[in-house]
Formats: sequence, C-alpha cells, structure tokens
Amino acid sequence: MKSISRRNFISKSAVAAVGAGLAGQAVTALAEDAKVSANDKISVALIGCGGQGRADLNAFLRSPEIECLALCDVDPTHLEKAQKGVEDKTGRKPDGHKDFREIIDRKDIDVVIVATPDHWHPIPTMLACQTGKDVYVEKPLSVSIGEGRAMVKAARKHNRVVQMGTQQRSAGHFKDAVAFVKSGELGKIRLVRTWAYLDWKGELPKVEDSDPPEGVDYDMWLGPAPKRPFNKRRFHFDFRWYWDYSGGLMTDWGAHMIDIANMGMDVISPKSALSIGGKNGYPDDAMETPDTQQAILEYDATP
Ligand SMILES: NC(=O)c1ccc[n+]([C@@H]2O[C@H](COP(=O)([O-])OP(=O)(O)OC[C@H]3O[C@@H](n4cnc5c(N)ncnc54)[C@H](O)[C@@H]3O)[C@@H](O)[C@H]2O)c1
Repeated sequence: MKSISRRNFISKSAVAAVGAGLAGQAVTALAEDAKVSANDKISVALIGCGGQGRADLNAFLRSPEIECLALCDVDPTHLEKAQKGVEDKTGRKPDGHKDFREIIDRKDIDVVIVATPDHWHPIPTMLACQTGKDVYVEKPLSVSIGEGRAMVKAARKHNRVVQMGTQQRSAGHFKDAVAFVKSGELGKIRLVRTWAYLDWKGELPKVEDSDPPEGVDYDMWLGPAPKRPFNKRRFHFDFRWYWDYSGGLMTDWGAHMIDIANMGMDVISPKSALSIGGKNGYPDDAMETPDTQQAILEYDATP
C-alpha cells in the first residue's frame, strides 16, 4: 500500500479536489489505497447542507480516509436529507447539529467543510482555524474584502490548511490551457477576457414576505446579515442575488472564471477594479444584484 501521511493527504485533497464532479478524479486515485488504519482516518463535518455542501461532502466521501462524523444546518429538512445521504453511502448516520458552534467545540473533527451562504463563510472558517481544524470553504471566500483578509490571516496564524471552492483549477482542460499560456507560446499577454452567459438564470418572480418554514432557525440563517422579515426568494440558493448575503452573478460564477485568469497569469489580486452593470434583462424581478455586468481589473505586470 502506498503510504501517504495524514497531514499530506489533507493538504493534497484540499488543493486538488472537492466540490463538483471534477474533484472526484483526484480523490478516486487516492481511494485505490483502500485499507486505512484508524490513525489515518480524517474526520469531517459539514456546515451548510444545501446543494453544494452535499456535493462537496460526497466528493470527500469518495476517499476511504474520510469519515463524516457530523453535519450542521439551520434547516432540519436539509440536515435530515444530508444525514440520510451519508447513512445510505457509508452505513453510519452522522450527528446532526443546528448550531455550528457545537461542531467548532468538538475535538474529534479534523476538517470542516463550510458551504453556508457567502455571508456565513468567515466566522465558522476562522473559528475552525482557531480550534485547530482544517477547512474547505466554498467560494466566494467572503462578501467583503476585509473579511477575506481576516480569514487568510487566521489560516496563517493558526497554521491551518484552508482551501476555497474554486474547483475548476483541478480540471484537466483548464490546467492544459494555463500550461500553454505559461509556455510562452502566446507571447506576452496584455489582456485576458473571461465571460459567462448564464442562460439558466432566467427571471426571478417576486414573492411576499412570510413566516420562515417550520423548524428553520431564521435568526441563525441571517447571522451577521441585517435583520429583516423572512422572504423565500432570499433564502436557499437564491440568497446569491442579494447584497446582504452575496455579490450576485459576478461573485457566484464570475469568481470561477476570474480565478482561472488569475491562475494563468500567476496573479492573486488586482490593484484596481472598475465595474458597470444593472438589471437590464429583468428590470422588475426580485433580484437585487445586476443580471448584466462587466468589470475591468487592473494588475501589475507579470514578469
Ligand atoms: N464551487 C462551486 O462550484 C459552487 C457551486 C454552488 C454553490 N457554491 C457555494 O456554496 C455555498 C452554498 O451554496 P448552495 O447553493 O449550496 O446554497 P443553499 O442555500 O442551497 O445551501 C446553504 C445551506 O446553508 C445553510 N445555512 C445557512 N446558515 C447556516 C448556519 N449559520 N449554520 C448552518 N447552516 C446554515 C442553509 O440552511 C442551507 O441549507 C455558497 O457560498 C455558494 O457560493 C459553490
């Protein structure tokens, strides 16, 4: 059996894997080493059991090193669905928590997956770092630049492995394209264009405020966001179209495309940014963030 240290595995799996289907390839390669001693087990907990959290966890579970001990969600329906999914796959039902701080307090968790809405990425990530856990946190890192920097600082201060969910970096075709750019065959690059036409998005009809669904801890869902009455539109999945919780299409799918340009050009962040956009497609629908947007990001010249 090829040996791989537990620490090395966490680091490798975090960098190479996890997220959507692509993640599975790297994890499957490791899964060939089927026998895992108890010492090499990596215990994982998922905070935020919506669509992406469950997909991330499924990718983790393709490795025999991984055992899922706990799940957390403020919505019992999502929590139970995820618990059943893990039990069906592994034969073991993970503990369910409604308050993520109980996961943070647990000493038997090595890695936390944070797949809450964006406004809830920083606090669980930083608390997990403080308590010695590694983290896979979904993109976008945070809603504000300041929060993102605080997260990076916490990861470094506590010497944790923290990986953000830009899983496109692991895809063969993107890696090939980046290698081609770096080979110099295209000469000096002065401008990179990325774009996304999200034709699945469509119109988002408005709905009235209402009571939250039974059992949902709506105050905890809001967390650090401003208090307001419950509205189904702003809740599961569609939170990404509201400034209080996210940054719209640009930070939702734009984050992935800009990330590949950054990877190709070996840059981390722009020195200036300019953006223009609006609700040009569906001016009267429920979405707050632009449905049409362009941004120009300026970087220092690369060597
Ligand atoms: N990497 C990718 O390709 C990709 C794809 C989709 C979504 N995402 C990211 O994943 C995250 C989740 O997106 P989604 O589409 O799964 O959203 P979702 O609304 O379906 O799921 C979020 C879940 O988090 C739960 N939640 C909210 N606050 C919580 C809290 N304080 N504690 C515990 N649980 C809480 C919600 O109840 C919900 O079940 C977002 O940040 C999104 O940007 C990434």
